[in-house]
Amino acid sequence: MRFPSPTQKIRPLPDLLISQIAAGEVVERPASVVKELVENSLDAGATKIEIHLEEGGVRLIRIVDDGGGIAPDELPLALARHATSKIASLDDLEQVASYGFRGEALASIAAVARVTLTSRHPPAAHAFRLRNSGAGIEPAALASGTVIEVADLYFNTPARRKFLKSEATEAAHCDEVVRRMALARPDVSFHLTHNGNVRRRLASADFSQRARDLLGEDFFPHARVIDVAAGPLRLSGLAALPAYSRSGRDEQYFFVNGRFVRDKLLTHAVRQAYEDILHGARHPAYVLFLELDPAGVDVNVHPAKTEVRFREARGIHQFVFHAVQRTLAVPLAGASAPPASSASAEPVAWPYQSGFGRSFAAAETTARPYLDFARSAFADGRSAVVPAPGFSGTNEESAAAPLGYALAQLHGIYILAQNAHGLVLVDMHAAHERILYESLKNSLAAGAGQTQRLLVPVVIHTTAKDLATAAEQAATLARLGFEIAPLGPQELVVREVPALLAGGDLPELIRALLRELAEHPASRVIEARRNELLATLACHGAVRAHRTLTLPEMNALLRQMEATERADQCNHGRPTWVQLPIAELDKLFLRGQ
Ligand SMILES: Nc1ncnc2c1ncn2[C@@H]1O[C@H](COP(=O)(O)OP(=O)(O)O)[C@@H](O)[C@H]1O
Ligand SMILES: [Mg+2]
Repeated sequence: MRFPSPTQKIRPLPDLLISQIAAGEVVERPASVVKELVENSLDAGATKIEIHLEEGGVRLIRIVDDGGGIAPDELPLALARHATSKIASLDDLEQVASYGFRGEALASIAAVARVTLTSRHPPAAHAFRLRNSGAGIEPAALASGTVIEVADLYFNTPARRKFLKSEATEAAHCDEVVRRMALARPDVSFHLTHNGNVRRRLASADFSQRARDLLGEDFFPHARVIDVAAGPLRLSGLAALPAYSRSGRDEQYFFVNGRFVRDKLLTHAVRQAYEDILHGARHPAYVLFLELDPAGVDVNVHPAKTEVRFREARGIHQFVFHAVQRTLAVPLAGASAPPASSASAEPVAWPYQSGFGRSFAAAETTARPYLDFARSAFADGRSAVVPAPGFSGTNEESAAAPLGYALAQLHGIYILAQNAHGLVLVDMHAAHERILYESLKNSLAAGAGQTQRLLVPVVIHTTAKDLATAAEQAATLARLGFEIAPLGPQELVVREVPALLAGGDLPELIRALLRELAEHPASRVIEARRNELLATLACHGAVRAHRTLTLPEMNALLRQMEATERADQCNHGRPTWVQLPIAELDKLFLRGQ
């Protein structure tokens, strides 16, 4: 490190240097220029925005918009530091609803690149042009809107230029910025080119179309519509079920009042909503829009404005968490029913329907008789016998049984069922595990769950360590619904278990439970690790692969899945069932092509 020589005097920094230092905050790379310029176009009311890049945006960024334009006499101010048309007072800042408000983006960009600003403000007879290197404004030809050209980025600050990545990487960052803006503003059309090649051409659309254009068709079959309002807060958008989880955070879009943010509080709230259903190493995919009174959020805490501060942080966290959790938890049988609190909000237009979801609306009530049967069949571990209803494909029947009726069991692992849309494949162990987990959670939440005394107590050969754990954790075990006592130096006797688990492999289940209890201190177990514990129980209580099921048992499982919250994925976030629509099957056989 070099220290300034002590003989140097204190001097004011030259203006250009001040500007370049400030620019460092705002103009990190070409993508930050694109972000600032597109935001300006949106603030100017543009409905069409073109973004042309050359050499990753370093050689040239050219933005063309059809917004309101800049009056000729204001052109020089646009490039001046701290000059803005968007706020005039501190009060305005607290209410700010535009993207910009600091009036420093163009000045910062002009400090590190050659900028040409051409604009036509309708009252003026024609357009005018201003260059940051030029002498003043000059007449120009442009029918309407604004064209801004940013050439040779960092030409005068070569040190910064060294930090840039390859042309392709910088272009990709620019593309990502455009993607975010385009998600937030589906009503605006965007056109992005790089070195003359079209990268994106997005026509003005509704949100669902825009989201489909940008997130791909894969996302949609796994996405649930969120639209929840509570007082002045509204959360809307799409959240993917865990089957579509990602190994990175690349598909997490959160917007606050239309502004893309990376906010710890919000990310945490969403992550928590996925906690039960997503494996720890996977990341949820979502596009969420939080709207609130601008006065409730401070957007002026970060140079790029990607971090925000909420006045009611805790309330916001709770609201987002519950809204997402409830949406993900809606059982299949009620998938289309809007969340209770969304009454005031306009529904997110989401025409995408593969026939799923919406057609399930009527299912909940009609499915009841099967559910009762299902509970008894699985709670006893015995197979009850009811006639499997034939499948005729009428609307009423498909509404009653969205997952259809079982046809067969495949390799002792999968259930094959037929519903109105085609073939349904169910991972029977994963599905049953999920059902048990949710039931155990519910019954524990409602006080002690139902227990069952075993007709013949089960004796378990075990280790001295397990015996000690059973003695130490007797209270916890009792609370979970187990009555377990030592029988000999290496034996335990089980007399009572939660009714839901009576059909499972008890020795395995209890060994796993004791191991789990031994690993974690008693005081914490029931509270902090309750869900993990229940997951262990559910895993061992669930029907094992290779157990032959009868058709009525399989149908009972299907009906239970329909009635269970979050039944679409197992506790590890894997899907529990998939739909193979007839159309897909037809494709396999090249039918109708
Ligand atoms: N594309 C545009 N169309 C119309 N006016 C613009 C455009 N870009 C910039 N301006 C004007 O220039 C001013 C300065 O822009 P900027 O430096 O980004 O600051 P801010 O957006 O924070 O106001 C804006 O307040 C706006 O009046
Ligand atoms: Mg701006």
